[in-house]
Amino acid sequence: MTQTTLTVNGEPHTLDLDEDMPLLYALRNHLGLNGAKYGCGLGQCGACTVIVDDKPVFACLTPCSGLAGKSIRTVESLGSAERPGPLQQAFIDEQAAQCGYCIAGMLMRAQTLLERNPHPSEEDIRAYMASNLCRCGTHLRIVKAIRHVAEQGAMPHENRR
Ligand code: FES
Repeated sequence: MTQTTLTVNGEPHTLDLDEDMPLLYALRNHLGLNGAKYGCGLGQCGACTVIVDDKPVFACLTPCSGLAGKSIRTVESLGSAERPGPLQQAFIDEQAAQCGYCIAGMLMRAQTLLERNPHPSEEDIRAYMASNLCRCGTHLRIVKAIRHVAEQGAMPHENRR
């Protein structure tokens, strides 16, 4: 066990963790942030996607040991059930979730796309989102929701603290 300080959604948390513990387990089991999901554990589905220093990462494959001093953002930073952020609202408006299991990962990957490129084309969106899978097959609605935000010109609410 090693003491590690993770800065998540702007808040530092000092935890005793196994060095090679994946970030996903620390978020879900130690910090109670259950948005990011365990899908494959192999970096193949994207259900666990969170943002580290403005880049999307697979939290199932990212060891906590290298994360001291980095900024980690989870879907909980985008808004809440009562006050969804613009990207979350667009997913709701377009009914982009079916079972919803992949959605936190989809939102976080889309968030980084819109932070880098506020006006992506549909091709850009499809290419960028290709690493995140939805087994229900709502990809078309997910793309539509991201386009909706891009067309509105509303940068998604973000928490980069
Ligand atoms: Fe991490 Fe599938 S659970 S990519």
